[in-house]
Amino acid sequence: MATVVVTTRFFPEEVERLIQAGHEVRVHEGEPLGKAGLLALARDAEALIVLLSDRIDDEVLGNLPRLRIVANLGVGVDNIDVAAATRRGVMVTNTPEVLTEATADLAWALLLAVARRVVEADRDLRQEGFPGWTFLPKHLGLEVFGKTLGIVGFGRIGQAVARRARGFGMTILYHSRTRKPEAENALGARFSPLEELLRESDFVVLCVPLSPETRHLLGARELSLMKKTAVLVNVARGPVVDEEALVRALKEERIWGAGLDVFEREPEVHPELLRLRNVVLTPHIGSATWATRRRMAALAVDNVLAALRGEQPPTLVNKEVWTKRATA
Ligand code: NAP
Ligand code: GLV
Repeated sequence: MATVVVTTRFFPEEVERLIQAGHEVRVHEGEPLGKAGLLALARDAEALIVLLSDRIDDEVLGNLPRLRIVANLGVGVDNIDVAAATRRGVMVTNTPEVLTEATADLAWALLLAVARRVVEADRDLRQEGFPGWTFLPKHLGLEVFGKTLGIVGFGRIGQAVARRARGFGMTILYHSRTRKPEAENALGARFSPLEELLRESDFVVLCVPLSPETRHLLGARELSLMKKTAVLVNVARGPVVDEEALVRALKEERIWGAGLDVFEREPEVHPELLRLRNVVLTPHIGSATWATRRRMAALAVDNVLAALRGEQPPTLVNKEVWTKRATA
């Protein structure tokens, strides 16, 4: 019997699967645990199912001597020191694929909401009432159909964003670490250096993971290359954009607007962003549909059960741990 710690309120059927497999399960409900709380709850745990807001650093890993697997409830693993986990022989898993379409949908929800000023119009209607149909209302927005979409990070989510763009008759540019010839053909997308993409796009959607290379990928200089009428959508990670520089660009109307699901210092939101009319903000809910969250929970449990059975988890991030084990 292994002890499995789940750091959040979880689907009961997934807890039941762990129990049925003979494991003790500790589920934490309520406020985020924080480091001390996590260490206290998980001291003898062999498996951890964690949230993106749980920081699993080397100190945490070093204090959990029985730990065999950290299963992240999310695809991005920047909340986990994967290198330290690998060094310590701890497997790290994530939840790719199952959340791709939901996250691409949210990117589009933000894009359309900013372009057509949906949230602003809704807010004004509630506060001021329906002003009557006018020809030049204060909520005049931007066309989306037929425009140019620039996608930064052309992996699973980036390509899912592109698939939706075809229905909007858009020209699709992408920038990514490696060229994707198959996707280029299938989606009619054109590879572009980042600067060129920023200059040419009417809508820029960020879909890269957070890494030392992508931190502040968009700073003041990059933002200054964008069209005055362009919209930036970030469903990747907050620190991919220099938030201070973005606030300045938005305040000075050097870009049209932004749709942000992620923030540089979550759960903090830059106070100036809250005051701006040309932004739409959501609290990191890219994958937050019932069906997707169920699939993420099930995948995290599949990963844990496999690891505890001594099998390779289906979505293992640090495969070196497994290879080393297999050849030991
Ligand atoms: P993915 O399939 O791995 O795609 C990421 C893409 O970014 C890959 O094509 C990768 O290139 C590219 N890339 C990596 N580093 C780059 C760099 N320095 N410059 C340019 N391109 C770079 O991952 P995914 O499943 O699409 O997820 C992407 C990210 O979205 C996650 O890591 C997470 O941070 C974020 N996310 C957010 C939410 C949300 O709730 N808002 C939900 C899900 C995911 P290669 O193909 O060469 O590796
Ligand atoms: C969400 O942000 C994820 O990485 O899954």
